[in-house]
Amino acid sequence: MLALVLALGAAAAGAAGVAAYRLLLSPLRRIPGWAPYRLTALASQLRALAGLLADDCEADYYAYGDIYVAGPGVVVISNPDDCCAVLATHRFAKSDFYQAFALVADNIYTTRSAALASARRRQLRHTLAPARLAALEHAILDAGVGALVARWDALIAGRGAGAAVRVQYEAALMDAAVDVIAALVYGRPSDDVGGRAQVVQWIHDFNRLALVSLIVPWAQRAPFSALIARLLASRDAFVASVARAVAQRRALPAAQRPADILQALVDAADAGPAGMMTPTQVISEAIAIVIAGSDIVAQTLVWTLHYLMLHPAAYARAVAEVRRAFPHTRRIAYAEARARLPYVEACIYEAMRIRAATGVFLPRVVPPGGAEFQGHRLPPGTHVCVNVAGANHHRATWHEPWRFAPERFLGDERAKARILTFSSGARLCPGRALALCEMLPALACLLRCYDFALPPDARFHPANVDARGAPIPMPRAHRFTCVGPRHPDRDCQVLIRPAA
Ligand code: HEM
Repeated sequence: MLALVLALGAAAAGAAGVAAYRLLLSPLRRIPGWAPYRLTALASQLRALAGLLADDCEADYYAYGDIYVAGPGVVVISNPDDCCAVLATHRFAKSDFYQAFALVADNIYTTRSAALASARRRQLRHTLAPARLAALEHAILDAGVGALVARWDALIAGRGAGAAVRVQYEAALMDAAVDVIAALVYGRPSDDVGGRAQVVQWIHDFNRLALVSLIVPWAQRAPFSALIARLLASRDAFVASVARAVAQRRALPAAQRPADILQALVDAADAGPAGMMTPTQVISEAIAIVIAGSDIVAQTLVWTLHYLMLHPAAYARAVAEVRRAFPHTRRIAYAEARARLPYVEACIYEAMRIRAATGVFLPRVVPPGGAEFQGHRLPPGTHVCVNVAGANHHRATWHEPWRFAPERFLGDERAKARILTFSSGARLCPGRALALCEMLPALACLLRCYDFALPPDARFHPANVDARGAPIPMPRAHRFTCVGPRHPDRDCQVLIRPAA
C-alpha cells in the first residue's frame, strides 16, 4: 500500500514538473495559445478525431493570429510569408504524421527524402505538366463531367419535361472525380476496376487504416490486426487492383500505351535503379495519386457550388458568363474556359481560399539550428504546422477575408499564387494543373447545362446569415486528408433543370 502511495506521489510530482516546465520554462511559453494545448496534445487530438480540425484552424487563427501553440512542442503559423519560408525548400522536413500513410511503401506524399520527392516530380512531370495535359483532356472530360452530365440528363429525361430533379451533388462530384482518376491511373473506367463505389470505399478505408496506424502504431501486428482485418483486406484489394492494372499495361504493345499517370510510373520502374521505383513503389505511388487526386478535387467543387448557392448574385454572374461565352456548346475545354471564363475561374479560387478542402495543418519539423517566426525562436525538432485556413484568411493579405468575393481574383494572377490551398515550394501539389484542368471545365459545363436552385427545405441559404451579414456555410468535417461537408446527404441537395 505504501509503495502504491509513493508511486502515485512520484507520478503526480513528475506530471506537475512536466506541466510547470511546459507552462513556465518551455522555449514556446511566450507564444500565444490556449493553455490546455501547452500541457497536452490530447485535447487537440480528440477535436481532430471529431473532424473539427479545419474549424479549429480557422477559429484559432482569428483568435491568436500569426503564431500560436497547438500542443506541447507544436507551433502553428499562418503568416503567408512565414508559411512560404517553411514550405520553400526541403529543410523543414515533413513530420512523422505522414509515415502513417506509407501503408504500402514510402511514396511522393509520405517521403522525407528530398531525392525521392524530386525524382517523383520529374517522373510525373511528363504527364502532369500543364503542356502535357492537353493530350489527356479528352479522357478527363469524357470520364468526368461528360459522364456526370449524361447521368443527370438521363435522370431528368426519366422525370418528364419541365420537372426539377433533386440531386445530391457531393456524391455526384465524388463519382466524377473518381472516374477521372481511374481513367488516368488504372487506364480504364472505374466500372472495369470494380465499380465507382468500390474505389471510393478503398480510398476511405485506406485513409481509415492510416488514421488507426497513426494513433496505434502496432495495430497492424497480430493479435491486434484481427480487429482491423476488414481495413487490411480492403488495402490488399486496393493493392491488387493496381497490380492488375500494371500487368495489363505491360501486356499492351508500346504503341498502344497512353501517356497517362500509370505509364509515367511504369516507365520510371523500367528505367532501372535511376528511376528509384520498385514494383511495390509503383503500386504505392499509384494509390497515393488515386487518393490525393480524387476526394480533394470533388470537395473543392462541392464548396464552390455551395458558395454559389449561398450567393445568388455570384451564381447569376457565373451563369451569365458561361452562357454568353458558350451559347451553343455543352462541352467546354480547359484552354477555352481559361480564356473566356475569368469569373467562373475566380469563383473556384475564392472557394479554395475561403473554405479550402485542404484547410488544415501541413506539419513540418524545424531543422538543426532552429528557426524564428514573428519574433519567436523555435528550437530544432519543434513541429511547425502551416495553417492553410489561417493563411487563406490572413487579415493583412485579404480584404474582409470572411467574405465570399470572387472579384478579388479577377485580373490578379498574383492573388491566385497567394492562396496556400495547393501548398507551396518544394512540396507544392504536383497535381495542381490536373485539378484545375478538371475543375474549371466541369463547373463551366454544369453551369452551362443546368439551372441550379436550393430546395425549399435547405438549412443553409442566402437569408441565413451570421453577425457580419455573410451567409452561413454548411458545417464541414475534416476527414483524413480532406475537408468536406459534415452532412452531405442533408446539406448537398440541389434542384436541377435543363438550361434553356
Ligand atoms: C483541388 C485539388 C487539389 C488540392 C487543393 C491539392 C492540394 C494539395 C496540397 C495542399 C498538398 C500538400 C500536402 C502536404 O504537404 O501535406 C498536395 C500534395 C500532393 N498532391 Fe494535391 N491537391 C489537389 C489535387 C491533386 C491531384 C488531382 C493530384 C493527382 C495527381 C494530386 C497529387 C498530389 C500529390 C502526389 C501530393 C504530394 C506531393 C509531395 O508531397 O511532394 N493533388 N496537394
